[in-house]
Amino acid sequence: MNILLTGGAGFIGSHTCVELCEAGHHPIIVDNYVNSCEESILRVEKITGRKIPHYQADVSDAQAMDRIFFENEIDCVVHFAGLKAVGESVEQPLRYYRNNLDTTLTLCEVMKKHGVRKIVFSSSATVYGNQPVVPYREDMPSVGCTNPYGWTKFMIEKILEGVQHANPEWSVVLLRYFNPIGAHESGLIGEDPAGIPNNLMPFIAKVAVGELKKLSVFGNDYPTPDGTGVRDYIHVVDLAKGHVKACDYAMEHPGCEIINLGTGHGYSVLDIVNTFQRVNHVEIPYEIAPRRPGDIAENYADPTKALKLLGWQAEKNLEDMCRDTYRFQTRNPKGYRG
Ligand code: NAD
Ligand code: WQD
Repeated sequence: MNILLTGGAGFIGSHTCVELCEAGHHPIIVDNYVNSCEESILRVEKITGRKIPHYQADVSDAQAMDRIFFENEIDCVVHFAGLKAVGESVEQPLRYYRNNLDTTLTLCEVMKKHGVRKIVFSSSATVYGNQPVVPYREDMPSVGCTNPYGWTKFMIEKILEGVQHANPEWSVVLLRYFNPIGAHESGLIGEDPAGIPNNLMPFIAKVAVGELKKLSVFGNDYPTPDGTGVRDYIHVVDLAKGHVKACDYAMEHPGCEIINLGTGHGYSVLDIVNTFQRVNHVEIPYEIAPRRPGDIAENYADPTKALKLLGWQAEKNLEDMCRDTYRFQTRNPKGYRG
């Protein structure tokens, strides 16, 4: 299959590109590099030994997208392109709504024009909102998002549901990711955030190599076993394999499905710190800091629907996630710019 990856130069897109190649598919990338660079695609080419056709363009540029669909016989689209920093979305809501919604609307219009009707979308566990119960199941109604980024994901789910409802031959798979971390085991591709990371694992990775002094653990008074926040961390390679299965599923099944991609296990902040230290033989200095506004005590997925519909489940464990993160960080101390 020819599969267009919007935002395919990014963290999850680049790993998905590798797994699609391994499965015998032909990925094509469009990215404007607002949060990535071409180097990640060159690294994917190194891992796979394949040339990856790629275009530098904004997904909300209808003309550029039209050309890409014209030049490639696209069977299916995986829509990763979007801005994703929660805090930044609170400061710049218009930029987030404009970018994340416009890219989706333009993409759907161009797909319609070219008769492409299969789309897999990068949604997020953030659309569940602060649910009082765990695990999170796909049929739980959202209790509302807590930031503009989350609302863009919520709205895009509704847009795609609406498109599929009006055009029943469309196939829409809404993948709700939990907390993707880790890196490809080659050490060639991984997460390369600009500036000081907001998320836990990239922050720990930078502390591990001495780029940052110490980790602030946001709260140790949550009602969790050790008092720190609990999340469902999933290895990015497992997540990428879930996309391969989702594309296969979309090709065969018209309709609209929401599917969690998580492991079903929750780990605390201190579980992550302790495992990282143990498997990598490195110290992670940390201090307990106040809770981060908007954080919840605990979330993790019910992943049974992914197993039932896609035949997919996570295979890698927390040790793999910590080891692979550290390998990428030590081999690329300055990320892709090094
Ligand atoms: P990323 O920032 O590494 O990748 C997103 C890519 O989209 C980047 O390469 C960026 O340059 C590109 N992009 C953004 N706007 C664009 C535009 N207008 N035109 C073309 N390209 C554009 O992020 P990621 O972690 O790989 O996330 C991929 C997707 O998954 C995002 O939609 C994100 O919201 C979603 N998601 C991520 C997480 C996570 O924790 N990483 C969790 C849930 C959902
Ligand atoms: C994890 C845990 C923090 C940093 C975010 C988005 C979500 C999704 C995934 C896109 C929490 C604690 C963190 C630090 C810490 N992204 N922490 N010190 O908040 O679960 O989810 O990324 O869709 O939408 O909200 O991930 O990695 O920021 O935090 O103690 O320096 O680590 O309090 O308990 P989060 P995270």
